[in-house]
Amino acid sequence: MDQPKQDIPVALGGAPVFVQTGGSEGELDQWQQVTEEEAQIAYDMTLRNELSGGTSTVREFEETWRKRFDSRFAITVINGTSALHSAMFGLGVGPGDEVIVPTYTWICSISPALILMARPVFCEIDPDTLMIDPEDVYRRITDRTKAIVVVHLWGNVCNMDALMKLSQETGVPIIEDCSHAHGATYKGRLCGTIGHVGAWSLQGSKPVSGGEGGVVVTNDVDIFERACLIGQVNRVAGLDLITEKYKHLQPLGLGIKFRAHPLGVGIAAVQLQKLDELNKRRRDYIRTVELGLADVPGVKPVSIYEGAEPAGFYGFPIHYVVEEVSGLSKEKFIEALQEEGLRARSNGYPLLHQLPLFADGFDIFTKGRGPLCTPEMGGDYQGYQAGDFPITEEVCSRLIFLPVFSNPVEGAAERVVATIRKVVAHAEQLAVKD
Ligand SMILES: Cc1ncc(COP(=O)(O)O)c(C=O)c1O
Repeated sequence: MDQPKQDIPVALGGAPVFVQTGGSEGELDQWQQVTEEEAQIAYDMTLRNELSGGTSTVREFEETWRKRFDSRFAITVINGTSALHSAMFGLGVGPGDEVIVPTYTWICSISPALILMARPVFCEIDPDTLMIDPEDVYRRITDRTKAIVVVHLWGNVCNMDALMKLSQETGVPIIEDCSHAHGATYKGRLCGTIGHVGAWSLQGSKPVSGGEGGVVVTNDVDIFERACLIGQVNRVAGLDLITEKYKHLQPLGLGIKFRAHPLGVGIAAVQLQKLDELNKRRRDYIRTVELGLADVPGVKPVSIYEGAEPAGFYGFPIHYVVEEVSGLSKEKFIEALQEEGLRARSNGYPLLHQLPLFADGFDIFTKGRGPLCTPEMGGDYQGYQAGDFPITEEVCSRLIFLPVFSNPVEGAAERVVATIRKVVAHAEQLAVKD
């Protein structure tokens, strides 16, 4: 019997480009996120009982981060969500305020606003870059808008010139959510330091990870002091407040604790040293794949603004243009890629305005209190429905995510390209096959 042919897709009776086994990215990626080095520091810290409080490791890490991100203040917290919570509280986000955020992001970019009793106002993304659309933000600003959360999603970089101009004109401050984009820059400036306050997640899969953790950065004294008030209970040493304004409340602040676990910080300190290497490797891989796909119909890279240098690369989305590939549906295309051994996937994040929480509202604090109470619940929240963000809905329905390799084996990027080329070349037959 003839061997299945490599140049025929598996779905049409051929052989796969490659077979992946084990590991989340199989044998194509040799990067080991956690190594002996991280284990050693956790071991040493445990033996020293450096397990709680603002230890020297925590303090050194904050100092390193502060210097690396060229900012006046850096505070470690338990996770990215609490970093955003601290940032919003730092800006004075509170009851009755509105916070603008793209509907296409992870829920934690905005969820802290709910707990501060502020209302999320969703906006569109730029369909080419997937970043927040400054013009749409502009249209949604009201006299209640207290902050704008701009998210450097998947490691790409927002149009910071347009956003900072808008911020200057309207007086609304910018929070940069850099949870996917550790080390990204815009016109030579590090993301997280261009807006009024920056927030990072150090969660387990992030480019710099402490297992769990987060960092808040700002140059603004009041934001810094308020961020200390909300999350740094009883942290005296190393966090000297600058002004007299809140000194009478220290060291207990509001009595809320977002302080990071020292072990997580110790691990993140090791990871931070590898960030440049990680970014370089991921960038080279992504560029090789994108270049290899440049003349392939149906797949298009996500655009980058002039002067932006993406980093972190938490995801590798590409646009799928079904009209250019004989109408082969995105689902069938992904299935065919997977059969070839390529772990492509369709989902990024659910659009927030379509989640029941934001679409239908919710009586968060019971008895008709809170920012998401609809008229039936005693409030004036209008909710959202499918179709409210046509640009974002359309572009997100066309995204495909390719695997991100941090230390690909020789030829891995070329194999990714070959797989996509093979499936595209047979799109017509695959489209009619059920
Ligand atoms: C864009 C974005 N913002 C915020 C967060 C929240 O970070 P954490 O999970 O550390 O709380 C995440 C987590 O994945 C995220 O992807």
